[in-house]
Parts: sequence; C-alpha cells; structure tokens
Amino acid sequence: MSSNGRSDATHVRGVCRDRLAAFMQSERAAYACVRPRSAKLHAQGPNGYYAGAPMHWMLDWPTPFPMVIATAKEARLTDIDGITLADFCLGDTGSMFGHSPEPVVRAIERQLRQGLTYMLPTEEALQVGSLLAERFSLPHWQVATTASDANRFALRVARAVTGRSKVLVMHGCYHGAVDETYVALEQGRAVNRAGLIGQTIDLTTDTKIVEFNDVDALTYALADCDVACVITEPVLTNCGMVLPAPGYHDALRRLTRATGTLLLIDETHTISTGPGGYTRAHQLQPDLFVLGKPIAGGIPASVWGFTSDVAARWDQIRRHKAEGHSGLGTTLSANALAMAAMYAVLTEVMTDEAYAHMESLAERLATGLSAVISQHQAPWHVVRVGARIEFVCAPGPLKNGSEALRAHAPELEQAIHLGLLNRGCLVAPFHNMMLTCPRTTTHQVDALIAAFSNVTEQLIA
Ligand SMILES: Cc1ncc(COP(=O)(O)O)c(C=O)c1O
Repeated sequence: MSSNGRSDATHVRGVCRDRLAAFMQSERAAYACVRPRSAKLHAQGPNGYYAGAPMHWMLDWPTPFPMVIATAKEARLTDIDGITLADFCLGDTGSMFGHSPEPVVRAIERQLRQGLTYMLPTEEALQVGSLLAERFSLPHWQVATTASDANRFALRVARAVTGRSKVLVMHGCYHGAVDETYVALEQGRAVNRAGLIGQTIDLTTDTKIVEFNDVDALTYALADCDVACVITEPVLTNCGMVLPAPGYHDALRRLTRATGTLLLIDETHTISTGPGGYTRAHQLQPDLFVLGKPIAGGIPASVWGFTSDVAARWDQIRRHKAEGHSGLGTTLSANALAMAAMYAVLTEVMTDEAYAHMESLAERLATGLSAVISQHQAPWHVVRVGARIEFVCAPGPLKNGSEALRAHAPELEQAIHLGLLNRGCLVAPFHNMMLTCPRTTTHQVDALIAAFSNVTEQLIA
C-alpha cells in the first residue's frame, strides 16, 4: 500500500493498480455471466433512444451494460434476470423512503380514478400547504415538479425581491439543472464548468463562488451587497460529503442578513437528517427552502417555501409588474396525483419512527464500514448525515469542495461499486453514497458491511 494514500503510477489510494484492473475484469465478467436477459436486450443495439437509454444517467453505472429492472419494493430491487439486490441507492434519494411505500400506493390508487391533473387543487393539495408550513417552519409554499425547477423559481423570486442580479454558490455544489449554479472555482476565480453543453451565456457574470466553510471568502464576496441569494446545501453532498465546520452556518446567516442577501437552503439530499431536514435539526433560518426528490415518494414533485418577508416583497412586485408570463411554474406542477402522493408522504411516511429506524441502521452501517477501513488500514473514511452515508477513498474529514473533488478516485470507486453489486448490494453510482430507508433491514446492512469487507480484502492484500 502507498503509505499516504495518494495515487501514483502503481497505486490508487492504497490499492495496487494491477490488482484493481484484474479485480474489475473478473467482476465485469461475473456481472455479465448471470444476466443473459439484460445482456440480450443491450446487444440488440439501437432501441430508438439516443445513446440507448431513456435518460443518460441510466448509463452511468460501472456495469458492462445496464441492469433492466423488473420490480422494486421497499429496499429491494429485482432485475429481469431474477437477481434481487439490497438497494442502498434508492434512486439517488427519489425513493429514500423505500420503493412504493404502502401509504403512497394507496393514495395513488385512490387518485388514479379521480383525475390526474386539472390545474386546480384538491382538498388534500390544500392541506399539504399547512403540513409543509408546520413541518418546516416557513409560512409560504409553492409546488414544482423537480428540485431543479424549485431552485430555479426560488432564485428568480430572490432576484426579483432584492432587485439584485447575482447569486452565490459553493464550489462543488449541485442543485440540479440550474444554469446559474454551473460555475467552478479555479485558482480563486469563477469559471464556467467545463462539461457544459450548449452554453452561450457567461455564467460568471452573475454567479459568485466561494469554498464551503470559508467565512473570509464569503465575507468578501458579499461585501458589495450585490448578491440576491446564497444557494447552498447545509452539508455539501454532491462532490463527496463535506460537513459544515462549527459556527459556519451561524456565520453564513449573520453575513447574509448583514448584507441584505437572501439565504436559500436546498434540502433535497440532506432531508436524510430528520423529519424536518438539517434545517430543523440545526435550527437554521433560511429565507427560502427547497426540497425535491422523495417528497412525493418517487412521483415527480418538489416544494419551495419562503418567509413572510419574502412573501410581502413578492406581493409588491406582483402588484406592479406588467401582465404576462412570470417565468415561474410548469403545467404539471402540483398535479392531483403528485399532491395525493405528497399528502401520504407527509402524513404517513416521513414520520419520527421512520427516521429513528433509518438513523439507527445508518449508524450501524457507518460503524461497520469504518471498522473494515480501520482493519485494512485503508487511507479512506466514512461520513454520515442521518440516513445518508458515504465512504470516501481518501483520508478525511473533507473541508470543502476542492478537497472533496480531489478525493475522488473514479476507477477505484467503480471497482468497489461493481464488487458490491455482484455481492448483492447496490450503492449510488455517482459517488459512494448509501441511504437507509424505513424498510431497510439489519440483515441488509450487515450484508453490505460483509460485501464491503470482502471487496476491500480483495483489493488491499
Ligand atoms: C441538492 C440537490 N438539489 C437539487 C437537485 C436536482 O434534483 P432533480 O434532478 O430532481 O431536479 C439535486 C439532484 O441530485 C440535488 O442533489
């Protein structure tokens, strides 16, 4: 093993490159060998989809070809070859409360014969507003279809009510398909992210960027009082998990308030923390709040909330604005089906008991993975936010987005993911993320720890 865990010509984060290549080759063969039906569909070639799948992320798995899924229930996923996996990816959070939770199934079945979308509220839809206000301590809410949409709309309102054009993001952030957030920090300067397709506008004109946890940089960036809104996750989760340093959120709130800047907390992933998200657990006080993905149990829906102050300022604007499109909303937002599912999630699924179960299994998983890492003296670490756990193939804890991005070792991570999958456990393909859901079992958690131990042992002799 290379002593400091860095990658070099012969090793990647403690693992010999030759051993890694051999492992990957045998795992790819093992994957393909037991999946003749998925392989056959894949081998049939072009199926009408550009690049072969309905959505490009479906091809982002470390497998020789994608599994074709037959069914999923609770924390299990079964493919058309009859192989069942313990699902710790859970649709990258969309199914964070398990696949097809019973209350959501009942709500959808009920709604199916009562109309799916009519651009008018149901009684249940009206009650959802109060449930959100109560749960997340913000008085005003709107519904959108994805977290990307909710972030876009919230930023638009933030700009309107402050009369400022700029937003500020954290390096390494992800908030969905939201143009203004696709900026990176390179040698202290904001740059458009390199991978963007079809980008014509220089995003750095209206987006400032700092490192998460860097209070001095934040102070400097907000000093001109030209930023409408800081948009951030309370914990960075999309570049590897970065926890806030003690006092960071207090400083963020103090500085945003002092400079008339609104604060948008995006809880789409950190809702893993507890029934009121990281915001409630840590008493944050955002002006705007966004939550998507699991809020309707896997039916596309998102919500965004805001304070009375933002609402009052928005009222003023609406009173004086010209007729015509506001740039907010999409036709299927808040459709009756999504609202029925959301009502079920808020009243029967996102319960204290569900979170207690998720938390205790997540703790068991994190402890087990950490023990395996220690036992093998691997230069890796584990980080957890409630029911969301990640192993990072680099020493930790990570301080900011730059450290988190540098911590990635894609070829090693892909080998581990595939090794876990072949041992019956699915983790998220993008980074090393695992979620426990209200239906995850102790047996599944122990199976994942055993699989991780076996894979680590084979990689680190
Ligand atoms: C923090 C955060 N916000 C927003 C989004 C966008 O969600 P969606 O793709 O459902 O629009 C994501 C997606 O991963 C996310 O991680």
